[in-house]
Amino acid sequence: MRFALMISGVFAGAAVLAGAIAYVLLSGELTGRLRQDVENMAGNLAYTLQNGGPQDLLEQIDALSANARDGSAVAAYIDPQGLKIAGNFSPDHPFAGHRVLRVGRDMTLAGTPTGVVPTDYFAYGLQTNQGWIITGRDAEWVAENTEVLLQGTAWGLGVALILSIMLAVFIARRNETRIERFEDVLLAVGAGAHDLRVVDHGHDDIGRLAGRVNHTLVQLEAGIAAIRQVSTDVAHDLRAPLARLRMRLEPHVLADQTPVGLRDDLGRALEDLDGISATFDAILRLSRMQAGLVPLQVHAFDIAALCRELVELLAASAEDAGHRFTTDVPPTAAAYGDRDLIAQAILNLADNAMRHCTMPAEIHLSVKARSEGWLVSVTDTGPGIPAADRTRATERFVRLDASRNTSGAGLGLSLVTEILRLHGSKLHLSDNSPGLRAEFVLN
Ligand SMILES: Nc1ncnc2c1ncn2[C@@H]1O[C@H](COP(=O)(O)OP(=O)(O)OP(=O)(O)O)[C@@H](O)[C@H]1O
Ligand SMILES: [Mg+2]
Repeated sequence: MRFALMISGVFAGAAVLAGAIAYVLLSGELTGRLRQDVENMAGNLAYTLQNGGPQDLLEQIDALSANARDGSAVAAYIDPQGLKIAGNFSPDHPFAGHRVLRVGRDMTLAGTPTGVVPTDYFAYGLQTNQGWIITGRDAEWVAENTEVLLQGTAWGLGVALILSIMLAVFIARRNETRIERFEDVLLAVGAGAHDLRVVDHGHDDIGRLAGRVNHTLVQLEAGIAAIRQVSTDVAHDLRAPLARLRMRLEPHVLADQTPVGLRDDLGRALEDLDGISATFDAILRLSRMQAGLVPLQVHAFDIAALCRELVELLAASAEDAGHRFTTDVPPTAAAYGDRDLIAQAILNLADNAMRHCTMPAEIHLSVKARSEGWLVSVTDTGPGIPAADRTRATERFVRLDASRNTSGAGLGLSLVTEILRLHGSKLHLSDNSPGLRAEFVLN
């Protein structure tokens, strides 16, 4: 918009400059013509004086005065003694050559002209051996003609300026909305909607850019899908060997003849194996959900009762870790959805609160009635997630720097997001000052 207005300004400046140059040239040209004209008039009268004598000259001057009753042209004959003999004006004193005469100061008009009384004359004095012949023309003529030019330029400039500003505003607005569309799509893609594309049918630079961006988004989506597929394939292919490994190790952990030290080591190895299996299970569950392979078992269920069950399940381990676990749920809360998946989502949020709050914290699970449905919140008073990392934290395998020393695969929030997406809802992370507030609405 600023650029468009700047171009309009430059255009207006150029038009004003062109107008000024035309004005100077035209008024110079018209002044030259007027001077030439008064010189010719004086020449004609001198010719008459020379060839016809004073009587003829007087007649010609009378005829000229009669023709110019509006005062547009003046002429006077002054004898060699400086006495005015004839004419419709008298200069203060005779002179030779070009002059500008001001009425009242340098000359007086004989009689009152019809119409507007002229103020200045371009005059020419010609000295002959029989006296002076002085002629003049109303200088206003130049101003009148140049005024037409000025008015024409001003109108043209005004109309052109209005049109160019309107056009500039129109183009700027149009491009602004088109660029906003880019921003919206790129933001949404960044937030995970990888299948979005920029819709722009323009045949200009922005349209071409849209094509490029879309092409890049297609490649990006394919790349992300490929990476997902690899992790899914790895998880899938390694499950069976892991299970076999577990089956092989387990008897040795239980066998009496295994030395105690080795038994402990094997026990820890089994725990690690279980952790890996759990991660692989989570990857596969997530992939299947994202591929639409998990059929939702949607039923009416009591989400308040579900929360109470989960708290019972978690309270002991939360207290072991030093946290305080409190709830605020209504006696009943009828909701629709897949009870098991919603339980998994709440469990993941509560598990995060317990694991990522390294210091003893206050963990709170609540269900509140809202006009859109039941608002389920899990809050804690731990370190929280900085605003800039909240979107990223819900992506696969993303674990923030603050959690380097805690266990986990970075899949918990991805699963929650996917479960909620299947329910037409969204995970909302915000600041609990201090701590994290994780919320979603279920109806
Ligand atoms: N309540 C919380 N307080 C502070 N940070 C959190 C909280 N919940 C999640 N995070 C941050 O977000 C990251 C992603 O969480 P997510 O649940 O997806 O993975 P994880 O808990 O690390 O591993 P997983 O859930 O797969 O065992 C965590 O690593 C942690 O850095
Ligand atoms: Mg987690």
